[in-house]
Amino acid sequence: MIKYSYLLVITFFTFTLATAQNDIKDNEINKKIDSIISLLTLEEKVAMCHAQSKFSTKGVERLGIPEIWMSDGPHGVRAEISWDSWDYAGWTNDSITAFPALTCLAASFNPNLSAQFGKSIGEEALYREKDVLLGPGVNIYRTPLNGRNFEYLGEDPHLASKMVVPYIKNVQKNNVAACVKHFALNNQEHWRSTINVEVSDRALHEIYLPAFKAAVQDAKVWAVMGAYNKFRGQYTTHHELLTNKILKGDWEYDGVVISDWSSAHDTMEAALNGLDMEMGTGTDGLGTTTSNHYDYYYLASPFLKAIKNGNIEESVVDDKVRRILRLMFRTTLKPNRGFGSVNTKAHHDVARKVAQEGIVLLKNENNFFPIEDKEGVTIAVIGENATRSMTAGGGSSELKPQFEISPLEGLKQRYKKAKIIHAMGYHTGPSVYDNIIPSKLNQDSLRVEAIETAKKADIVLYVGGLNKSHLQDCEGDDRQSYELPYNQKEFISELKTVNPNLGMLLVTGNAVETPWLDKVNGLIQTWYLGSMAGHAIADVVSGDINPSGKLPFSFPKQLKDNGAHFYGELSYPGDGVNQYYKEDILVGYRWFDTKKIEPQYAFGYGLSYSNFDLSDIESNTNKFNTDDSIKISCKVSNIGNVDGAEVVQVYVGKKKSKVKRALKELKGFEKVTLKSGTSKTIDIDIPVSSLAFYNEGKSDWEIEKGEYIIYVGNASNNITKKIKVKIQ
Ligand code: BGC
Repeated sequence: MIKYSYLLVITFFTFTLATAQNDIKDNEINKKIDSIISLLTLEEKVAMCHAQSKFSTKGVERLGIPEIWMSDGPHGVRAEISWDSWDYAGWTNDSITAFPALTCLAASFNPNLSAQFGKSIGEEALYREKDVLLGPGVNIYRTPLNGRNFEYLGEDPHLASKMVVPYIKNVQKNNVAACVKHFALNNQEHWRSTINVEVSDRALHEIYLPAFKAAVQDAKVWAVMGAYNKFRGQYTTHHELLTNKILKGDWEYDGVVISDWSSAHDTMEAALNGLDMEMGTGTDGLGTTTSNHYDYYYLASPFLKAIKNGNIEESVVDDKVRRILRLMFRTTLKPNRGFGSVNTKAHHDVARKVAQEGIVLLKNENNFFPIEDKEGVTIAVIGENATRSMTAGGGSSELKPQFEISPLEGLKQRYKKAKIIHAMGYHTGPSVYDNIIPSKLNQDSLRVEAIETAKKADIVLYVGGLNKSHLQDCEGDDRQSYELPYNQKEFISELKTVNPNLGMLLVTGNAVETPWLDKVNGLIQTWYLGSMAGHAIADVVSGDINPSGKLPFSFPKQLKDNGAHFYGELSYPGDGVNQYYKEDILVGYRWFDTKKIEPQYAFGYGLSYSNFDLSDIESNTNKFNTDDSIKISCKVSNIGNVDGAEVVQVYVGKKKSKVKRALKELKGFEKVTLKSGTSKTIDIDIPVSSLAFYNEGKSDWEIEKGEYIIYVGNASNNITKKIKVKIQ
């Protein structure tokens, strides 16, 4: 690889790296970029617009222009992939820290943690010499069946926006680009490469785009990845409305649009509709066939030919190269870029902290949790998920961590007095990095062994849920059923029969059906937690850490209670060609609230080992102009016996409106950490401008005047106080 030797010859230009300072102004850089473009041949320019390997693009050696190297994303830097094939390269120096998957980060409701997450993963990406980290993902959680929900930030655009901005800013402080993905409307994996999404302008702007917009405008993200699916008949990766008009036009995005791996479909569209860099279209690994070689990508030879014969103007490739060079000046060409770090204690601590704060306590009958470490007590930890690696599998976000503490290992390390015993219960087939091979291979024997183990224990902790296999929480397709797989419902019943002192750790990145809920006394949602999973789980199970996570999406009781599923197959998954987002703006809790359907667990819900009281909830005044900010103050008191944290959530709704409205929408939140017996008064500001709806007639945002209701509580279904305000 020639990447670093480039730096030696870059003095060729009218500037030198030696004199370049970190704070070079944008216009100076733009001038430099123009001067570089004037030196490039057309062939060199085109070559910069498409892949040269699975995860890199070409530089221009004679001018010292470097290659660009990318890696997945989004919750750890992926192991090195081979040059031409999807096989791992087999390096021995590419293991990293696996951070919790983004659903867990969203559940923390803590933007400060998101900043620490971004800083740490950015340092790891820099250490691994990556210029672009392919994450974070902000596709909205529309259906619990989406195999990739675990990689995203939940169902609410406000929450996703507030969490994604600090992540991106702090990745990029390392001079590594974040690449927010998948733009846009990639809300299911089933038929993802072909399905055409039909959705209203309102739902597009109010639900599906805000997190991308925040990434572009507030976080100033340097790269955006297109999506696989179509929208209104055109592929989203090179889309007239999405890429050209909205992203690059209205939002004034100055970064690079990268295709998803094989999401480009046409030279003219890719060239003219804003795609800057084409990746993954395919090669046979040998480059022996024309149809399958990097030179035959849509933005390679066919693009060059179209420019040469005058069908496409040269200024089109110049714009792409300008953006690509800008990306280089922000990353690989940045003076004093730094070296980053990997697997540090600080990164492991951040991974553990995010996991601790994202874990959600869903049920706690008779204070089943926390479980005390007591002499003479036997705890049976049952279930394959107690030992199965959850960083292996799942698709492109698969990781090769230096280590991964399993729930069983974490609990064993934490519990010194109590005796921990274990049985697998069922085995679903090997996963590459599994840390335990079942002692018995026959499913019946595994089951019997588990039941016998449960009988011997004082407490049973069942570790169940989904895993990262195909058709579960995994890229490439969706779950086929809302239930827990592997007959876990029956298994939970059997465990309950032999030992009623049963609690459960639910390891998923998605909501699941819970008909077994009355069988478990306690239930903890543990997500996919990465390297420090078992430690963070033991922290919460033991009570060393008081849970404070809140659900970033609703748990429907049954699938048809979810808005996307209510309207049948045309809405989800579509008819194979098209799908219609018929629930429109009523995604997630907006649907449950408005249609008065009770979810099993609501958005924003999560218990604590302590109790919190919200009081003195007031608005600074109750008449506002459109450019004002509504200030909501709230006294939060920890009235329980343990220190902990509560998330104050502010929703806003408008009953009388000229347009369809959700009953209420999240517009502000704050996580407040309080010692037992203490209180704190907090203010949450809601800019009136954030109450605007997207007026389809005008194709613009509009703030409707009149009466609004502000709902303040600690979950979307637990509102302590409503306040009426007027916008005038
Ligand atoms: C995924 C992207 C990923 C890319 C590269 C695609 O299949 O959709 O999210 O970044 O592969 O691995």
